[in-house]
Amino acid sequence: MKKITAPLFFALASSVLSYAAFADTGNNSALIKQGEYVARTGDCMACHTVGNAKPYSGGLGIKSPFGIIYSTNISPDPKFGIGNYTEQQFADAVRKGVRKDGSYLYPAMPYPSYAKMTDQDIHALYVYFMHGVQPAAEQPKQTDLSFPFNQRWGIMFWDKLFTRDGAFTPTANRSDEINRGAYLVQAAGHCGSCHTPRAISMQEKAYDDGSDQFLAGTELNGWNVPSLRAGGDGSKGIDGWSVQEIVDYLQTGRNQHAAVGGEMTAVIQHSTSHMTDADVKAIAEYLKTLPQKYSANESKSFSEDARTKTENQLTQATDLTAGQRVYLDNCAACHFVTGKGASGVFPPLAGNALASAENPTGLVSIILNGSRLPTTPKAPTQLAMPDFGWRLTDAQVADLATFIRSGWGNSQAAVSASEVKKIRAQLRAPDVTSKPMDLDGVKHYSAQKPQ
Ligand code: HEC
Ligand code: HEC
Ligand code: HEC
Repeated sequence: MKKITAPLFFALASSVLSYAAFADTGNNSALIKQGEYVARTGDCMACHTVGNAKPYSGGLGIKSPFGIIYSTNISPDPKFGIGNYTEQQFADAVRKGVRKDGSYLYPAMPYPSYAKMTDQDIHALYVYFMHGVQPAAEQPKQTDLSFPFNQRWGIMFWDKLFTRDGAFTPTANRSDEINRGAYLVQAAGHCGSCHTPRAISMQEKAYDDGSDQFLAGTELNGWNVPSLRAGGDGSKGIDGWSVQEIVDYLQTGRNQHAAVGGEMTAVIQHSTSHMTDADVKAIAEYLKTLPQKYSANESKSFSEDARTKTENQLTQATDLTAGQRVYLDNCAACHFVTGKGASGVFPPLAGNALASAENPTGLVSIILNGSRLPTTPKAPTQLAMPDFGWRLTDAQVADLATFIRSGWGNSQAAVSASEVKKIRAQLRAPDVTSKPMDLDGVKHYSAQKPQ
């Protein structure tokens, strides 16, 4: 056994002591409110509540490489929830992934990021969950993985190798605003859990901006998750967005470049759209400090000449490809022949991150299932993209996707009917998401094949 050295021992002891300094201040309404806000910044709702069920009663299925992991009931019910958790036990579950009974949580719960949350935020969060949330006496679905993934002790080794203790530390030469943005992104916001690429052993390749892998973009079950590194020459994705455009996207799900779809919808709906203007701006300013990475073939691929060429082809409407015809019949009314959409209403398809992603899963999923923008305090209108799965055959969707991926200057490979067939089959799977998604009753798994 390794002996704990004295300095390490004192470090551990003092972190425990500093923690115990908070007394449970019970029904303190200001603290409850503060905790409710912290829960928004951490998006606890998105994973721990299914649709219209009681808040925080758990039971959302999250796809993982090992099987489906269900979130637990974190309402203050003493039997089914966490009503019997002390503050220390709560802090350990949220920041270390260790349960009251000492067992280890699966990292589907983003404790590797929450590890950086401050004692103050955890304290407010605890008071909120104990006194500001209604107990829900409900037993959610139980996680039932096969051997060896049902052996929770194995996670201990994963934690030791890949996670770090210790609260976020502000960087000295940065403004308070940038430090606040960095804190929200790295800690509670856990943006990296989706936006940072993962290594073979599934840990995020970086948990902070010390590495250029942090938030560098990746895929989630085939769906493109764009890079959030917004500092660059403006030629690639989000680095061409202004601070205000990033703010608009996070508050309303739309701006002149994109409209949100997929897993990000729930993030905006339950979390970022409820943040204060100052916090959302801090996030945007922080993302602007992260230099974008370019690789030879992806930067500057978008060309205005190529966009005009497609626009002219569609306008003249002679010698159309099969995909162009499907587009004119089904899509052009909203996305127009220009491929530029209408700012804040219909997203552009030219140069759009989803439309020009290497993996076509996201694009094909949206065509089959449609998508609905979240309703947010700043943009309450319900804008929706209809679903075409019932109407278009696999071959038609393949032709259409092939056209979109190569039209208006986009430059990705063709999509085959068999790929579409596969994606359609996955979409019909039971009510389980790869990560949280609550689309307010949108028919999300309705991709029936036309007869
Ligand atoms: C990305 C999805 C996700 C988010 C976001 C999330 N959780 Fe979890 N959480 C889970 C899952 C899944 C589990 C159960 C994991 C397991 O069974 O090992 C869990 C377990 C827990 C537990 C352990 C409860 C028990 O049964 O012992 C606590 C406490 C908890 N979460 C609190 C929170 C809080 C507080 C937040 C917001 C700051 C939050 N979670 C956000 C997915 C999430
Ligand atoms: C559950 C996974 C998940 C989490 C957590 C998440 N995102 Fe996203 N994000 C996505 C996906 C998927 C997309 C692509 C959306 C689309 O295709 O319309 C996206 C897109 C974005 C975009 C648009 C980028 C572009 O080029 O179109 C921004 C900005 C963004 N996210 C910011 C954030 C921030 C800030 C956080 C943390 C507060 C965050 N995201 C957390 C999954 C996630
Ligand atoms: C009735 C108007 C309408 C029609 C018709 C329509 N769309 Fe959309 N589309 C929208 C709206 C609104 C959104 C934004 C919704 C969202 O992102 O949740 C959208 C979003 C999209 C996106 C996602 C863009 C992004 O930034 O993530 C793609 C791709 C797309 N549509 C392609 C198509 C294709 C292909 C067709 C034809 C089969 C089509 N749309 C037909 C209105 C429409």
